[in-house]
Amino acid sequence: MADGNLLFLCKTSDLQPGSVKRVDRAEGDIAVYNIDGEFYATEDRCSHGLASLAEGDLIGEEIECTMHFGSFNAKTGEPMAPPCSIPIKTFKVEVQGDGVYAVIG
Ligand code: FES
Repeated sequence: MADGNLLFLCKTSDLQPGSVKRVDRAEGDIAVYNIDGEFYATEDRCSHGLASLAEGDLIGEEIECTMHFGSFNAKTGEPMAPPCSIPIKTFKVEVQGDGVYAVIG
C-alpha cells in the first residue's frame, strides 16, 4: 500500500511503449510515459517555458520539448539538453490491475 493518494492517470493499454500523454489536472498537468513497458510520470510543464512536454518526442528515456528542443530524463526529471537546466518534478507511479496511478502527496 502506497503512502499518499493515488491519482488515476490512464489505463496501461492507453499508452504504448515509447509514447507519452498528458493528464490534465488543476494542480498542474502530468505527463505519463511508457518506457519499455514501465510507466513513469513527471510534471508536464517544461521548466524552461510554457510548453507541454507530452507534446514533445520521447526518445528512449529522454523527453524532448518542442519549444526550444531542450530535454529531460523522463525517469529522473534531470535536464539532459540545454536550454533546460532546472529539473522537473517526478511522481512515483504504481500500476494496479490495468490502471496506472501517480502517488500524490
Ligand atoms: S520551453 Fe521547453 S525547452 Fe524552452
